[in-house]
Parts: sequence; structure tokens; C-alpha cells
Amino acid sequence: MKIAIDCDDAAVSLKAVIVEHLKRTGRDITDLNYSAGKTNPLYPEIGYNLAKKIQNGTYDRGILICGTGLGMAMIANKVEGVYAGVCHDCFSAERLKKSNDANVLTMGERVIGPELSKMIVDAWLNSEFSGGGSTEKVEQMRQLEKESFRII
Ligand code: RB5
Repeated sequence: MKIAIDCDDAAVSLKAVIVEHLKRTGRDITDLNYSAGKTNPLYPEIGYNLAKKIQNGTYDRGILICGTGLGMAMIANKVEGVYAGVCHDCFSAERLKKSNDANVLTMGERVIGPELSKMIVDAWLNSEFSGGGSTEKVEQMRQLEKESFRII
């Protein structure tokens, strides 16, 4: 599983913690570091950059961190084929994959601490889509997404 991660200026510390944790646990993690060499990039362009790389299949899953996780989830969900959710608890992180089949997880450095963040990331990465009763719901979401993205 190829994983990409990135953050805005509000989440530099938490991103470093998660990168270190994922490397230590043997994950294939790439820090996109979109902000390097740029003057004050904002979360929409940072999140969009990662989401496009999920969309084109360069990475299987992405982790985006900002102050709250909210803005990153909102921009990632603007990219067709990308499904992002904010999680600040392990139950939601597990459900985000098992029930919703999300390929992007977002978190907020101003909301949670490093230890819980690591557990949340692990809960999400260790989960797979369950199918079953969730299949119809996720399929409906993809259908509505097609309808929505046709409006240009
Ligand atoms: C800070 O720029 C803050 O707006 C951002 O990190 C994020 O929380 C947005 O949702």
C-alpha cells in the first residue's frame, strides 16, 4: 500500500510524528512536502496536490493534516474519485474505511495529540472496506458523484 502524507503550516509537528511512526512500522510512506520552497501555500492547494495523486493512482491512500482537518477534507472531496473524512477517534477511523471506503484520512493538529493520532492512522490503515450492506451506499455515492461532476 503506497501512502502519501502532507500538511499545511498549522500541522508541521504532527505530520513529522506521523511520518516517523509510519516509517518505524514499515509502511511505504511518502511525504509530498508540497510547501517546500513555496511562500505561504494554503491548505486548498496542498490538499488538492495530494488528492490528485490519489486520483491518478500514484498512491493508494493519503493522509492530510491541517489545524482542524476540516479544510483538508473539504478540498480533497472536490477531486473526483477521492473520498476523505476527518477522524479524531479510532472508531470513526475504522468505519471510515470499513463502511465508507475512504482513500483519504484527515486530522487536525489543533484538535488531537500525537499518541491518539498515531492510533487513528493505524486503525484506518489496518482496515479494509467491508462490503456487504455498505456496498450499495458507497455505490450510490459514486453515482451521485458522477452526476455532480458533470456540472462544469
Ligand atoms: C489554518 O490555516 C487553518 O485554517 C487550517 O489549518 C485548517 O484548520 C483549515 O481547515
